[in-house]
Amino acid sequence: MITHFLTGEELTAEELRGVIERALELKADRLSSRALEGKSVALVFEKPSTRTRVSFETGVHELGGHAVVLREGELQLARGESPRDTALVLSRMVHAIGIRTGPHEVVVEVAEHASVPVINLLTRDHHPCQGLADMTTLRERFGTLDGLKLAYVGDGNNVARSLLVAGALAGVDVAVASPPELSLPGVPVVEPTEAVRGAHAVYTDVWVSMGDEEDAARRRALLAPYRLDDELLQRARPDALAMHCLPAHPGEEISAAVLYGERSAAWVQAENRLHAQKALLELLLGS
Ligand code: CP
Ligand code: NVA
Repeated sequence: MITHFLTGEELTAEELRGVIERALELKADRLSSRALEGKSVALVFEKPSTRTRVSFETGVHELGGHAVVLREGELQLARGESPRDTALVLSRMVHAIGIRTGPHEVVVEVAEHASVPVINLLTRDHHPCQGLADMTTLRERFGTLDGLKLAYVGDGNNVARSLLVAGALAGVDVAVASPPELSLPGVPVVEPTEAVRGAHAVYTDVWVSMGDEEDAARRRALLAPYRLDDELLQRARPDALAMHCLPAHPGEEISAAVLYGERSAAWVQAENRLHAQKALLELLLGS
C-alpha cells in the first residue's frame, strides 16, 4: 500500500491505472466523494504555484476535507526550523502533507519523519502529480494508454523525469529530445524530429524552470532548436496532441499557434490536475 507520493514510483502499475480510472469517474461526477470528511491536508509552497495550489486546495475541499495552505515565509522553516521538526509537528495535526520546494532531499526528509502521507508538489527533480494528471489526459483522449507514444522535446527537467516515471508505469513509450547539455542522466536522447515520429502527443515545458533564472541566456540558446511549433507537431501522428504542463511562454518553448490551437491539450491537462489529485488523495487517505 502506497504511503508517500514523492516520485510516482511508489505506485504499482495497477494502482496507477486505478487512480487514472478513478480520476475520470470523479471528473464525470465531481462532488460524488467525501473521502476526506473530517481530514486536513497541509499544503506547503516554498515556490510560486497556480495550478498545483488551486487544484489541491479545491480538490481537498470537494472531497470534504480542509486544506491549510502555507506559503513561503509563513512557516518557521523560513527561520531555520528543520524539515524533520516540521514533519513531526504537522503529522500530529493534519492527515497528509503536500510540499513544493527546491531540493528533492527536503521532501524525502519530510517523508522520513512524517507519520502521515507526504505528497511532492514539485521539486527540482520531480513533478509526479503532473505526470499522473498527464497520463489521465492521454487515457481520456485516446481511450487507452496501451501502445501510446509520448515525445518530450525540451529541457531535461523535473517534468521530463516525471513523464518518464509515469510513462514507464502506465505502459506509455516516452521518447526524450533534449540538448546533450540539458539532458537527464542515463536517458538516451534523440533529435526532436526522431522523437516525434509516430507520437500520439508532443510535450514541452519551459526552458527556464524555477531556480534556473541565472542560467536563462545559455538555456535559451541551447534550447532554441527544440521549440514545439506547427512544423514539429506535423511530424507526429495526424491526431497528435500538443501538451504543456504550464505556465507557458508562447513564442519561446511553444508557439502561440500551437498553445492556443485546436490540438493543444494544455488546458485539459491543467483541469485534470484536480481530478487526478483527488483520486490520489482518496488512495492515500480514504478509509
Ligand atoms: N504545472 C504546474 O505545476 O503549475 P503551477 O506551477 O502553476 O502549480
Ligand atoms: N519545470 C518547471 C515546471 C513548472 C510547473 C519548473 O520547475 O519551474
